[in-house]
Amino acid sequence: MKVIIEKNYEKMSQTAGRMVEEQIRQKPDAILGLATGSTPLGLYKELILKYKNGLDCLNISTFNLDEYVGLAPEHPQSYHYYMRKNLFSHINIRQENIFIPNGIAPDLKKECNNYERAIKNKGGVDLQILGIGRNGHIGFNEPGSEFDSKTRVVNLSKETIKDNSRFFDEKSDVPQKAITMGIGTILQAEKIILMIAGDSKREITKKFLATEPTPEIPATALKKHKHTVVLINKSLL
Ligand code: GLP
Repeated sequence: MKVIIEKNYEKMSQTAGRMVEEQIRQKPDAILGLATGSTPLGLYKELILKYKNGLDCLNISTFNLDEYVGLAPEHPQSYHYYMRKNLFSHINIRQENIFIPNGIAPDLKKECNNYERAIKNKGGVDLQILGIGRNGHIGFNEPGSEFDSKTRVVNLSKETIKDNSRFFDEKSDVPQKAITMGIGTILQAEKIILMIAGDSKREITKKFLATEPTPEIPATALKKHKHTVVLINKSLL
């Protein structure tokens, strides 16, 4: 695991943007693993800029990490909606190459197994983008998640539900469950970029850096991965 300290959020987004660009230029049909939340927003802006300047995204495929159970793709807080709004509607990716778990699938278990299979059928993720939750979660793999876990339905922790409640009008509207790629699924990616930004991440940044791999801090699983780059905003250290 390589740690890069970035001067600020803008620089971090630019570094991640360059790495994704390099991946797409090297392999125009690259398979990208994508994250949501506020952290990768700067990266997505960078990619849109690069697309406008000639980076072709026609043959890439993307797999998102997760989606809330119970939210339709049209729901403004769904990750389908987020991805369309913040990236997909601005680049020339093909609709059929976009993969995001369906949170309203009639058979969620089947949806999870199909998702896992779809990643394999495409040949696996070349480059995975990750953010981190305040409790160290990656995707929606909450503390206690096994390092070999696969795509599945999970219960969100109290902390995560609280963190997410700012996006919903009513507390009772905040989803309690999600579909997430497992930690084992994430670790199968060829390369991983973990981006850590935002003042609320100060405590978890220190814990993450100081702790040996343990399911209690899911992101520490990345320390076992050969090609992980962690980008940390300097202000958090
Ligand atoms: C959600 C997402 C994670 C993301 C996390 C942190 O829980 N499922 O993938 O990393 O939020 O979000 P933010 O970047 O807004 O701090």
